[in-house]
Amino acid sequence: MTSLILAPSILAADYARFGDEARRAERAGGDWLHVDIMDGHFVPNISFGPEVTAALKRSTQLPLDVHLMIIRPDLYLDRFIKAGAARITVHLEAVHDVAETLRRIRAAGLGAGLALNPKTPWAKAAPFLDRADLVLCMTVEPGFGGQTFMADVLEKVRALALHPARKTNPYRIEVDGGIDAKTATQSAAAGADTLVAGTSLFAAADMAAAVATMRRDAADALARFAKSEGGTKV
Ligand code: DX5
Ligand code: ZN
Repeated sequence: MTSLILAPSILAADYARFGDEARRAERAGGDWLHVDIMDGHFVPNISFGPEVTAALKRSTQLPLDVHLMIIRPDLYLDRFIKAGAARITVHLEAVHDVAETLRRIRAAGLGAGLALNPKTPWAKAAPFLDRADLVLCMTVEPGFGGQTFMADVLEKVRALALHPARKTNPYRIEVDGGIDAKTATQSAAAGADTLVAGTSLFAAADMAAAVATMRRDAADALARFAKSEGGTKV
């Protein structure tokens, strides 16, 4: 069975009610809670850090999908592991030994993710595809929620979904940025099995209905992709 994961992004929540918002995402049927960490250097925005992440961990049963948009992920890894992350995704473009950082995340028993900015070609990720549990394709320039989905990234999603490395190491493919019911379906049709959505879910009048619609449409598209492309079943 091909499994689809929906990860509501807490970046789009009401920050005055963070715990309640995390529980709202859980009640609405999210699978993971996506947690965006921004340092004001790697991206031109600052979000929050390990203490707030630990508070989220106390607020919800959802596994925390921590996305580090920070220049030195290696220096902060241990603090996010301690905060209770289930998986940690680091950027290929950040300043660190990528293979070593992925190794440390896995050694701590967490899922290791590798993120690529929209303009970073998929081939740059090739040396790491046997060491990652997830590859995140940014579908907006990282830094802010509420931006427009960049459809030209779908070619990269497809290339990574069909890459032979995935046969021996079946990493998930996550898309992040501008995901709504329509772009979720387009992404799943290109092979993305893990969908991050902030604004479209948290701003929906009925979050549970928005999650259900996105899941239904995207799951169908992913199943069609797996059938037609003989893509790796995950
Ligand atoms: C952007 C973040 C995203 C953000 C997505 O840099 O990595 O996770 O929360 O927000 P939406 O879904 O509003 O584009
Ligand atoms: Zn993110």
